[in-house]
Amino acid sequence: MQLAADLDTPAVTIDLSKLQKNIARAQRLVSEAGKLNRPHIKTHKIPDIAAMQVKAGATGITCQKLGEAEVFIDAGVTDDILITFNIVGAAKTRRLVDLARRVKRLAVVADNETVLQGLSEAARGSGVDLPVLIECDGGFGRNGVQTPDAALDLARLADRLPGLVFEGLAVYPNNALNTKPFFSRAIELFKGAGVPLPVLSGGGTAALLTLADYPMMTEHRAGTYAYNDVMTVESGAATWDDCAMHVRATVVSRPTEDRAIIDAGSKVLTREQYFVKGFGRIVEYPEAAIANLSEEHGMVDLSASPRKPEVGEVISIIPNHCCVVSNMVDEVYGLRNGAVEVVWPVAARGKVR
Ligand SMILES: Cc1ncc(COP(=O)(O)O)c(C=O)c1O
Repeated sequence: MQLAADLDTPAVTIDLSKLQKNIARAQRLVSEAGKLNRPHIKTHKIPDIAAMQVKAGATGITCQKLGEAEVFIDAGVTDDILITFNIVGAAKTRRLVDLARRVKRLAVVADNETVLQGLSEAARGSGVDLPVLIECDGGFGRNGVQTPDAALDLARLADRLPGLVFEGLAVYPNNALNTKPFFSRAIELFKGAGVPLPVLSGGGTAALLTLADYPMMTEHRAGTYAYNDVMTVESGAATWDDCAMHVRATVVSRPTEDRAIIDAGSKVLTREQYFVKGFGRIVEYPEAAIANLSEEHGMVDLSASPRKPEVGEVISIIPNHCCVVSNMVDEVYGLRNGAVEVVWPVAARGKVR
């Protein structure tokens, strides 16, 4: 039996009890809200964890990239997958159609005519009909049609194009300011036009707390909740105790009284910050700040910390954004009671195409 304490560093660990608790809680929240749960696997990129999510009650999974879907379909986790990314170019649309042949349902989003035309070209005559959701911008300012009228225009186009089946609308995250008015208006508009909307797909971990405010949504895609991180805690969607992912790092230098250097830099923790300060929370020294990172060095400011770690000490860091840390390492260590219970290869690591 390998102990967590004996793992060489830097090492990414997953507390299995917390992971199981997080999966059960999200499933309960989504089921109680009367929606289907479609977890986003970009957080963990590990088929075994997706299998745990499906076993807990998920209807299927969400993938961001085709390459992720290929890995999860090869693993046989589920036969109901939604890809929430515009698939552009013949090389990719061909792969999409090949994949769609292998499962019961492989749905995909689109937010413009070029994408719909490309999907249709690949699907027509292939014997596969691709279910399509029109992606809407509820105020996040990323992808998505800007108005309910534009959504209806694309839905009609999807309905007309051979090889496509219009299924509904998608948005991320559904707690963005504009989502509710956008979707309320869209529902009216589609009803008036006689276009059914069987699927309304929302998403986000923070949005798990306000599902009841979006009764129109039929399914929910959360991802980060499986591990949680500094950002989900600071957004109020989780507590420190809910954080299942830790980066174990060794203090390799104490060049000054107030500075420690650890062996985890931007190649493990990443530079993701969004709205949070520093580059992760040190569990054992919460007053210390990971003030800066170079590729392999983490610079820890100890000035506010009454206790200071020694060279050789191993610390545990809750990363700012767990989903990108998953993409940085070959494997993660599943821990229970201080021992390594499972070593999971991060199977879809690097699957960004
Ligand atoms: C399209 C889409 N759906 C769902 C999610 C899951 O959201 P979260 O990570 O907040 O749980 C994401 C996250 O990036 C996303 O981009």
